[in-house]
Amino acid sequence: MTPSTPWTPESWRDHVAAQSPQWPDAAHLARVEAQLAGQPPLVFAGEARRLTQQLAQAARGEAFLLQAGDCAESFADSSADAIRDKLKVILQMAVALTYAAGVPVIKVGRIAGQFAKPRSEHFEERDGVRLDAFRGHIVNHEDFTEEARRPNPDRLLDAYHQSVATLNLLRAFTTGGFASLTRVHAWNQQFVTNSPEGKRYEVLADDIDRALAFMRACGVNLDGDHELSSVDFYTSHEALILPYEQALTRQDSLTGDWYDCSAHMLWIGDRTRQVDGAHVEFLRGVANPIGLKVGPSTSVEDLKVLHGLLNPQNLPGRLTLISRMGRDRVTERLPELVEAMTHEGAQVLWTCDPMHGNTFKSRDGYKTRHFDDVLTEVAQFFAVHQSLGTWPSGLHIELTGDNVTECLGGGDQLDESDLDTNYTSICDPRLNASQSLDMAFHVSELLQRAVTTRGARSL
Ligand code: PEP
Ligand code: CO
Repeated sequence: MTPSTPWTPESWRDHVAAQSPQWPDAAHLARVEAQLAGQPPLVFAGEARRLTQQLAQAARGEAFLLQAGDCAESFADSSADAIRDKLKVILQMAVALTYAAGVPVIKVGRIAGQFAKPRSEHFEERDGVRLDAFRGHIVNHEDFTEEARRPNPDRLLDAYHQSVATLNLLRAFTTGGFASLTRVHAWNQQFVTNSPEGKRYEVLADDIDRALAFMRACGVNLDGDHELSSVDFYTSHEALILPYEQALTRQDSLTGDWYDCSAHMLWIGDRTRQVDGAHVEFLRGVANPIGLKVGPSTSVEDLKVLHGLLNPQNLPGRLTLISRMGRDRVTERLPELVEAMTHEGAQVLWTCDPMHGNTFKSRDGYKTRHFDDVLTEVAQFFAVHQSLGTWPSGLHIELTGDNVTECLGGGDQLDESDLDTNYTSICDPRLNASQSLDMAFHVSELLQRAVTTRGARSL
């Protein structure tokens, strides 16, 4: 399907935008959009292009994408420590994956803009009172009062400013020495060190130290080496609130292409991927690398149409398909979708989000996920690719660097009675730092096997 009308940054307005908040005051929203349009971009077109090139490597089976961070960032939690600890755990996971499998790991945070949430229910009712659902801090607040739940456009500006501050710190951390491979030990947090995965990480960090010492002894100047002393770290979020995304969309002076400069990578959620919907219309026209959540209700036909719309030139790295089927559906649903894309010659990345299809409510009403379900979905995802001869291009997970108790199982064997110890997510349950590291070690083994298979096939 080729769209019949030309794209402009506002052509999405002629389409239905699912999951849109009911903004009470259109003039207020318009004022905020104009203010945002006058602000500097958060990211540059050249950075987004570099990410596309790296993702193209993953589409070809030469790299692996690790996309991770909060389900929903919170305006109440923007401390430097929280950002640093999230970065630490992502760097730890990436180093574990790279070391085991020997492939470059592309690091993309769900961070510096991940504020908007789609909801399965538009309203929430408690004791006969019905209010708007909580839609993330870019829209409203989670308290159950009329005032808190009313969508407020000023929150778009707050989201922008918090993203600016977060990204500024991330840029400093990733280029200022903190992310240097000579500091791998420092990324292990105190409360993780004594867990089995923390200890396993220390062994790996010792190995890396030894390798670096060897290179130094051979006369390699590691301190001046850009590849070792800094990392490329990219930002991403779900492009849900289109007035915000449009206001930050700019034309690149170098190429004339339009980029959504609110983040390097944007994705379309499982609830907003309607082929004729506003979100698909908006993202088809920006040149950033984009993601598309592919849930169990995605038909082969829809996926082909979506690929045609979102990646009409079939550029590798442009489109990342994020499978989020759930443990029980992945083996049944994923193969025909992967085969259809392969049959079309589509140059896509297939990554696995093992979180969103495995959520349930605990006895006490906490939204939770079991570590074993998450891991099972990842293993099934790898198995599907193994059997089809395609490359498992990445992992997409919700995590935090804190010692939270939101997901069950893992090394600490958290059970339902532990959930209220430290449950701080304002939306979905996240893996804590040790569960994330544990996950990385399991995925390293799967990835190692995928690398071996790839090698054997190319012989
Ligand atoms: C999310 O990634 O937080 C999310 C809501 O995912 P999905 O669109 O896959 O449900
Ligand atoms: Co989520």
